[in-house]
Amino acid sequence: MTLLLFLKSLQRKAEKELKEAKELKQLDDIFQKYLGKKGELTAILRSLEKLPETKRAKVGKQANNLKNLVKQRIEVKAKKMRLVKEVAKKTDWIDVTIPGRKPLAGHLHPLTQIKSQAEEVFQSIGFSVVEGPEIENEWYNFDALNIPKDHPARDAWSTFWLKDSKLLLRTHTSPVQVRYMEKNNPPLRIIVPGRIFRHEATDASHEINFYQVEGLMIDKKVSAANFKAIIQEFFKRFFGKETKIRMRPSYFPFTEPSFEVDMSCLNCRGEGCPVCSQTGWLEMMGAGMVHPTVYKATGLNPKYWQGFAFGIGMDRLAMMKYKINDIRLFYGGDLRFLNQF
Ligand code: DAH
Repeated sequence: MTLLLFLKSLQRKAEKELKEAKELKQLDDIFQKYLGKKGELTAILRSLEKLPETKRAKVGKQANNLKNLVKQRIEVKAKKMRLVKEVAKKTDWIDVTIPGRKPLAGHLHPLTQIKSQAEEVFQSIGFSVVEGPEIENEWYNFDALNIPKDHPARDAWSTFWLKDSKLLLRTHTSPVQVRYMEKNNPPLRIIVPGRIFRHEATDASHEINFYQVEGLMIDKKVSAANFKAIIQEFFKRFFGKETKIRMRPSYFPFTEPSFEVDMSCLNCRGEGCPVCSQTGWLEMMGAGMVHPTVYKATGLNPKYWQGFAFGIGMDRLAMMKYKINDIRLFYGGDLRFLNQF
């Protein structure tokens, strides 16, 4: 075999080995095999001077070309391998056989749970759940409810006004009564759970925002006796036990007559304890028979319709159910408190 042919076969061999090399170590071996001190190509290059001059130039050129080719291929491939290794080192390694870690499951806020429970009970006795906006105007929050401007009754609802506008944060859920009566004809039977806002100092029983469940029932003959029966049934189903209620005369501009409804204290069964300030009773809601002015404001004729409305303090329901003595706990976001529900 001529030297030139031998070089050609050497090249084919080297190229094949380079292609198959998978490790840096293999590249090293290839380098030694061809270009090391005892390398096959090195031997040829060394023997060049012994060749007759006529052959030397041609074979020399071919041999040097092969030397450069092998060197370059090794360099390029080694560089690639190093890069892949480095990336692999940085990438987190995943062991797919490790058992999965359970995601932490959260749960609904206690007030949200109370809201759903109250909704369920009222729905079970035929009420629909309706919502309204938290940002209101004076008409719905006050005027339509028979609380005109400059009327002292407005003082009962310390109001957050929105800057540079006539809008306010609703101080109760009663405006939704008006919105609903405007758009729907009796018979009506709705509850309105929702968030409300009061511009007041906070303490164990006052927050600047809290929740109410408004109720409204209007038909041809709906009486205060119906109201009492329905509320008694609500408490019974909501608390899961017989509770006594009592109605005391009160005043709200949008009802006539108006009453305040107390529930017998579940903590002491009416005997008197710190939860009920030793009275045996807890104030749970305001209520009354819808005032003629409210019918008129919503386009209904008070001659044909009559009904009752009420506003339950939802936080009170929660405090009673879970025996909590500070309303602020619901809004503090303290997980030690929330995790208990
Ligand atoms: N809106 C009243 C309040 O926030 C509660 C209330 C009283 C609602 C009597 C009513 C009602 O629907 O008839 O203090």
